[in-house]
Amino acid sequence: MYPDHLVKEFNDYLKEVMADYGAVPGILKDAMFYCMQDGGKRIRPIFCMLTAISLNKNFKVVLPTACAIEFIHTYSLIHDDLPAIDDDDLRRGRPSCHKAFGEDMAILTGDALFAESFNLIAQRQNAPAEIKVAVIKEIASASGAMGMVAGQFVDVYYSGKKLSKDKLYYMHQNKTGKLIKASIRCGAMICGAKERQLEGLSRFAEKIGLVFQITDDILDVTSDSKKLGKTAGKDSLQDKNTFPKVWGLEQSRQIAGKNIEEAIASLQGLDLNTRPLQEIANFLLVRKV
Ligand code: IPE
Ligand code: IPE
Ligand code: MG
Ligand code: MG
Ligand code: MG
Repeated sequence: MYPDHLVKEFNDYLKEVMADYGAVPGILKDAMFYCMQDGGKRIRPIFCMLTAISLNKNFKVVLPTACAIEFIHTYSLIHDDLPAIDDDDLRRGRPSCHKAFGEDMAILTGDALFAESFNLIAQRQNAPAEIKVAVIKEIASASGAMGMVAGQFVDVYYSGKKLSKDKLYYMHQNKTGKLIKASIRCGAMICGAKERQLEGLSRFAEKIGLVFQITDDILDVTSDSKKLGKTAGKDSLQDKNTFPKVWGLEQSRQIAGKNIEEAIASLQGLDLNTRPLQEIANFLLVRKV
């Protein structure tokens, strides 16, 4: 079951954060608010908040960082939808940012959210300075040239070309896995996880991050645009390298299942309240959006 109460807590906090952006000029502000409004699953913030809960801490302590990560994720979707990348007109059940505001504004809105995410941590995250620096480093690395952007590069560059199985894993681990891993690691660092706990949580996070993109690929084949709130069937139209394309649907499901089993196993013996993380890991195998 999805923790909808945490989505609500997150969205309430996000509203408070967005109030800081009242002075952003013109339609740049409209586009930022449009893209950040309700509609996404908020799964990265949820991972961050559940990690706090697994360490018996109040999830509220990680909200600024959870919000910063959602800013980066949203920027990545805005740029991913651009005509030069995936050329997608629909996002979260509405016209994508460039459809609503134009390509120029979509590029700038993404740029703004990326920079503001670090501002948010600097200004709002309450943690010792060395932890804040570690969190900023984690998120910058996860989203940068050897993280999300590297994965997006492989995605774009190899569209329509053959990709080895190793590179397919690399692409998914980077374009999607690393920001999910950062969500969990940052939650753990802010909440004072011990080294052993951080290592175990990192192993868990790596596997669920990979599975999240595998199931995104599967849903692109098996679901429809109305349910997904984004254009279904797009990966094969654009000859993208996906798990279903390379492994077939059934084997993709098996790979996802095996990784979730391994993810859950890596939480054992860490003195954590594992149930919420276990539940969300299992949810990834049955999610419909
Ligand atoms: C979609 O992410 C893009 C991927 C990285 C797979 P989500 O499925 O988390 O999208 P929202 O935030 O719920 O819209
Ligand atoms: C996007 O992957 C990964 C990002 C880093 C944005 P996709 O291109 O598969 O995401 P969707 O399907 O458009 O949401
Ligand atoms: Mg893409
Ligand atoms: Mg896309
Ligand atoms: Mg996709």
